This record gives sequence, C-alpha cells and structure tokens, in this order.
Amino acid sequence: MGEQFMRAWCLESRIGPPGLSLREVPDPVPAADEFLIEIEGSALNRADLLQTKGLYPAPEAEHEIPGLEFVGRILEIGAEAQLNFDSGPSVKTGDRVVGLVAAGAWAERIAVPGALLVPLPEDAAAGARGGIAECALTVFDALRLQGELSAGQDVLVHAGSSGIGTAALRIVHEYGARFLTTASSRKCGALRELGADLVVDYESSEFAEAVLEFTEGRGVDLILDTLGGEALGANLRCLKPRGTIVTIGLLAGARGDLDLGRLMMKRATLKGSVLRSRGIEEKAALVASFRRELGLAFAAGRLDPVVDSRFSFLHLPQGLERLRRRKHLGKILIDLESS
Ligand SMILES: NC(=O)c1ccc[n+]([C@@H]2O[C@H](COP(=O)([O-])OP(=O)(O)OC[C@H]3O[C@@H](n4cnc5c(N)ncnc54)[C@H](OP(=O)(O)O)[C@@H]3O)[C@@H](O)[C@H]2O)c1
Repeated sequence: MGEQFMRAWCLESRIGPPGLSLREVPDPVPAADEFLIEIEGSALNRADLLQTKGLYPAPEAEHEIPGLEFVGRILEIGAEAQLNFDSGPSVKTGDRVVGLVAAGAWAERIAVPGALLVPLPEDAAAGARGGIAECALTVFDALRLQGELSAGQDVLVHAGSSGIGTAALRIVHEYGARFLTTASSRKCGALRELGADLVVDYESSEFAEAVLEFTEGRGVDLILDTLGGEALGANLRCLKPRGTIVTIGLLAGARGDLDLGRLMMKRATLKGSVLRSRGIEEKAALVASFRRELGLAFAAGRLDPVVDSRFSFLHLPQGLERLRRRKHLGKILIDLESS
C-alpha cells in the first residue's frame, strides 16, 4: 500500500517566524509498542501559545505538530503494544481512549505508547474528553501526589478560570476538600456558580487577606500556584504552618521575593513541577496512579472539563486567539469528527 496522508496543524518555526499552517503530512506509523489512534477531539493549552511563539519547543520531529491531549478511537495495535496498568482491561480496535502526549495531537491521527492512554468505558461518548488529559493529570500530580491533597483541607488554586483551575475545582471537590481561587472580575460569578467555595477578584482585593479572612486566620493547607514570581510572598502569607505550595506556572513571572524566615517559621514546603519534559516511565507511573485513584470518577464523567467553547479543526487558530486574549473560562475544545 502507498504512503497515506493526514491533515495536521504544523509549526513553521524552523523556517522564519513561527506560525501555524494546516498541511498534509504522512500518516504516523506505529512502532511495535504503540497504538495508532484516529483523533476525534483535542484541546488548547497555554503552553501551545508559547510553542507557537517558538518559546516552548516540542521534542524534535520531522513535522512539529503541537497538541498535548486527545480523545480518539484505536485504529491499529502494535505487535507488543499494551496498556501498562496493573489490572486494567485490555483494549481492541475501535475502542475509545484518552491520551496525554508531548506533541502531535492537532492532527487526524497519532501513534502513542500504551502507557500514555486511558481507556474509556464502552458506552462513553467522546464528549469533552479531548480536553481532559493534560489538566487532570497535571492537577492530580501536583495536588495529590506532590501536595498530599486530602479530605477536609483548604486548597488555594490560582487562575481558577484556566483549564488547570477548572480541572482543579473538580479534583479538589472529588477529594472532599474546599476550593479557594482567584480570577479577574468578569469571571468570578461563573466560578461561584460552578461551586468554588471562595472566589477572590484579584483586580479589586488582595487574595492573601481574603483567604485569611475566609479561613478565620488559619490559612490554607495547599496552594496550586500558576502565577509564580509576584505571588510568592502573598502565597506564603496565607499558607498554614506545614503547608505546601506547588508551583506549576509562571503567569506572573519567574522571579519573586521569598521571605526565607517565614518559610522556615511556617515549616512550609515549596515545590516546582513540570509534566511535559518527563520521560515515558514517569508519565506511565502517573497515568497508572491516576487510574487507580480517580479511575471511577473519570469513567463516570465527574472529572469532565468545564467547556468554554468548541472549534472545528479547521478553525483551530480562532480558538487559539480566544485563549491568547484570555476570553475563556474552562477548556477550548477542538472537534475533528465534523471537520
Ligand atoms: N507545569 C506543568 O506541567 C503545567 C501543565 C499545564 C499547565 N501549566 C501551567 O498552568 C497555567 C495555566 O495553564 P492553562 O492552559 O490552564 O491556562 P489557560 O486555560 O490559558 O488560562 C489562563 C488564565 O489564567 C488567568 N491569568 C491570571 N494571571 C494571568 C497572567 N498574568 N497572564 C495570563 N493569564 C493569567 C487568566 O484568567 P483571568 O481572566 O481570571 O485572569 C487566563 O484566562 C499556565 O501557566 C501553564 O503554563 C503547567
């Protein structure tokens, strides 16, 4: 059979200024340990904006195709390919899976090692699941595995309206903890309606003071920090003794003032974490833990993303513009089926 082609959004970063173009590229050919997936849906993430500016390069590839997550159906199974879970169900062609990848999801097909796939129940629709993997796995890793999230805690998550923030809302409540968050004025009402326990309008209030008032002076157990730099001091001020801050984003800058005296006196922990650059074994272990702890909630749809909007594959750049302008609340999904 001759070479097959698919459509993919490709970065032109190696020839002049970065930008996206829709191209015909050769179909991926799965290695022995890989699955070939027909992608039905994907989504947009803040990291994509950096990547399209040439600031967050994906792993070296012939065609640099962005896209960190997808939902799709299994087309082919490599001879040695398997899902790497302790007691997970086996899968067959036609089954639907969700996947986390370092690149390549803005395309019609993708070849992926089984370790990075989570199967969906047979009767589950693709729905919004093209936008679940990146944020749910990042939040689970940061809050639960690194921050030891547990029932009864107070958890502050910055940028509540982001893909990460809205995924955290679901996960924090799933563990029986309270979700405190920050957002710009126009997004606060919607976050309250989604069930956030405290929403601080960061344009009109100091979040540390609002958090301390809400927690009657105790502060929070855990902070998921997507702001970084400027927020460091205030984060530490509203953290409980022996609390933990996990920094996963630098929306407000990479440098800030840290009062080491306060860090010491609070016996606080400050951690930094990133997902994409991790090796396959580490990601596989994360996917396995996620399935063990949150598999039922995932299958039942309780972790499904808050959907901001949906764009067809052809209109992906318009979705990216919406993300860039911070107009959204929740995930911007990309639908391939109808394109
Ligand atoms: N370390 C990791 O592995 C990892 C993985 C995934 C994501 N992240 C990080 O998590 C953060 C959120 O990612 P995402 O894809 O969920 O973002 P997103 O959906 O694009 O949301 C970003 C939102 O953050 C809020 N925000 C607050 N301060 C901001 C600022 N200075 N600049 C831009 N936005 C600001 C905005 O809402 P308001 O209108 O309310 O301000 C904006 O809409 C990013 O920093 C991303 O790099 C890290």
